[in-house]
Amino acid sequence: MSAPSPRPATPPRLPASFVWGASTAAYQIEGAADADGKGPSIWDTFVRRPGAVRDGHTGDVACDHYHRLGEDVDLMRQLGLDAYRFSISWARVLPEGTGRVEPRGLDFYDRLVDRLLAAGITPTPTLFHWDLPQVLEDEGGWLNRDTAYHFAEFAHVTAERLGDRVKSWITLNEPFVHMVFGYGFGSHAPGRTLMLDALPVGHHQLLGHGLATPALRAAVPQAEILVANNCSPVRLRPDARTEADAAAADAYDALHNRLFNDPLLLGTYPDLSAFGLTDPSWGGLVHDGDLKAISAPLDGLGINYYNPTWLTAPAETTGLPFDAVEPDEPYRRTAFDWPVVPDGLTQLLTDLKARYGAALPPIWITENGCSEPAGLQDDARIDFLAGHVGAIADAVDQGVDVRGYFTWSLMDNFEWAEGFHQRFGLVEVDFETQARTPRASFAWYRDLIAAHRGGQ
Ligand code: NOJ
Repeated sequence: MSAPSPRPATPPRLPASFVWGASTAAYQIEGAADADGKGPSIWDTFVRRPGAVRDGHTGDVACDHYHRLGEDVDLMRQLGLDAYRFSISWARVLPEGTGRVEPRGLDFYDRLVDRLLAAGITPTPTLFHWDLPQVLEDEGGWLNRDTAYHFAEFAHVTAERLGDRVKSWITLNEPFVHMVFGYGFGSHAPGRTLMLDALPVGHHQLLGHGLATPALRAAVPQAEILVANNCSPVRLRPDARTEADAAAADAYDALHNRLFNDPLLLGTYPDLSAFGLTDPSWGGLVHDGDLKAISAPLDGLGINYYNPTWLTAPAETTGLPFDAVEPDEPYRRTAFDWPVVPDGLTQLLTDLKARYGAALPPIWITENGCSEPAGLQDDARIDFLAGHVGAIADAVDQGVDVRGYFTWSLMDNFEWAEGFHQRFGLVEVDFETQARTPRASFAWYRDLIAAHRGGQ
């Protein structure tokens, strides 16, 4: 039984073929951290570092999804999902990162795919959602160019096994966030604090995508290949609109958004001279041919949207060409204290179309959702979701080709450095008992999907 939806879901103004989905990621839900021959990942290591994760929480058990597959797919079926986005743990499939394949790891994803297909749900795996095998981190992780080649091998091995049934593949999840939080600030695994020297992590992830693309296409001729980029539209406050503020906004946009969209869609890197990077090969990091590989045609661009970023020109003491500031309006805040700004999503989508034009493939919203307090009557989440679905419809009305929406997340899970403190789920999880209870938002989303189908 789910909590009742407090208000009816009206069918959104979206194309009949629009796909409704939900997202999760391996380390955040699976648990079974060393089951069936899985090797350790950088998150298994990082969570053991004192102070790294709030209250010392770990993903050792998480939602125990590894052992509760049937129940979880049943929830998805009740929701009426068209598609489910999950990630594949590299260290389950290749415990040493490269070379020896662990068949029991692949068996798990094989069972998941079969269950999804039996429930009429399209499996949409992500190959890298931040859980690099620790053995590869010991060799430098994504700072090491070899990791990109190992990633292509992982993609190929996985696609050979699942590709007879899986057509949609997302190579990377939020390479910007992994670069900045994982290797720049150190608040995520592997906990490196290299600041701007983390840039090779961005390039090597993109190169990994570029090398994985032909590997996937070789195994799955009809593969549809996407990258899920975290994008944040940049805003200036009304009281900070000087040329210096505009330059700060431009510099941030280059780092957060264009650094990951331009090479994929245009085959070039944006100008990062505001960060002191003037040599076009970035000190030999970018080899001849890399950008050609990275810009191989994509079948879709995945967008993870949470909120805009407000910026000003930097105070003199900072080493960066911008300062992040508070928003200009008293937006509602989620439990994570993130401002709720649905029209930022419309802005982001229409900006993408304006910038990339014909080079922009169809867009999929691969993540969007909010952390709210525990409890079943999550009206705030319903407002959030309804507002953002409406914002997508506004962008579609303005000519942006958006094909689907995956909400983050199907169920409460391990929210990285915040442990289990942030709850993003349509389904509440009791981490003591592993009981799953659908929230009001679950009923609302189910009704929305049904209303959309009924309108066809
Ligand atoms: C983006 C990440 O891909 C996901 O793992 C995370 O849980 C959500 N955002 C919420 O922070």
